[in-house]
Amino acid sequence: MMKEKLEKIKEEALRKVREVSDSDALNEIRVAYLGKKGELTAVLKSMKEVAEADRPKMGQLVNDTRSAIEEVLDQAKQKIEEAVMSERLKKESIDVTLPAKKLPMGHRHPNTIALEEVERIFIGLGYEVVSGPEIEKDYYNFEALNIPADHPAKDEQDTFYINGDILLRTQTSSVQIHEMEKGRLPIRMIAPGRVFRSDEVDATHSPCFHQIEGLVVDKQVSFSDLKGTLTSFAKELFGEETKTKFRPHHFPFTEPSAEMDVSCFKCGGSGCRFCKGSGWIEILGCGMVHPRVLEMRGIDPEEYVGFAFGVGLERIALLKYEIDDMRLLYENDQRFLNQF
Ligand code: DAH
Repeated sequence: MMKEKLEKIKEEALRKVREVSDSDALNEIRVAYLGKKGELTAVLKSMKEVAEADRPKMGQLVNDTRSAIEEVLDQAKQKIEEAVMSERLKKESIDVTLPAKKLPMGHRHPNTIALEEVERIFIGLGYEVVSGPEIEKDYYNFEALNIPADHPAKDEQDTFYINGDILLRTQTSSVQIHEMEKGRLPIRMIAPGRVFRSDEVDATHSPCFHQIEGLVVDKQVSFSDLKGTLTSFAKELFGEETKTKFRPHHFPFTEPSAEMDVSCFKCGGSGCRFCKGSGWIEILGCGMVHPRVLEMRGIDPEEYVGFAFGVGLERIALLKYEIDDMRLLYENDQRFLNQF
């Protein structure tokens, strides 16, 4: 009787184990058959009804049954755990052939692109890129550049003064003086940087903008070097077919001075909206360094000659990318910046 019962329990347990596939269900079976209130325990409890002589045999039988059930439970448990693990590994595996998620990429500012282009050109010509302070003494921004005390550029309306002697530089020309002060000759440098003027913001003005200063000081430098250098710069920047024209002008720190125009890269010189019908676009100021500027820095103007130029960076960016309002360069509107 008891033997059959045990057989039945075992069979039932084994069948149930075969049917389940998760460890919770497996645990339930373990509890139901082997637990304190489980089927086998109940059988053990009924031992007292067994004749004493049969008890050891029956006891053995119960133990065998328990071991058999335990064994299949353990096997099933191991199998389930292996399956769970392999499922997990499959899920967690990384497919290295999948394309990576695209990170949102920033864009270079048109000013930056234009500056890097200008730097590339001049580095190619053997120039060094240097920088100078944005807060300057009157001396570096004006006096040493041969700008007399009563010059209109010094008017409070144009210059941001911090006090009577200290100001925000209105031009990168101040870096010329710092370079000459270093006492290393020859000089072949460009100096990009921010400049400040108390101008109202409009389509062509901003109180803070950027210039790129250029300075060469060497023993045999002539106006034709200046023209050749700036013409090849213009051709690299705006295209090989670009022509240049030098118009006489006046700057206190250069003599002679000129402004350089480039043939309109939009219409090629025939006249269009872009060049306001003239066929030419003004892009920079330049000239031979005034002997007095060299002299003030202790450079003998009989031995050394120099040429200098100053370009507005925004002007180049606006021209190159055909942007018609300077304010776009400062507003950081992503819809604008994303186009570059
Ligand atoms: N500093 C001048 C300005 O801000 C630009 C300039 C003109 C720079 C002639 C030069 C130069 O070096 O030679 O208008």
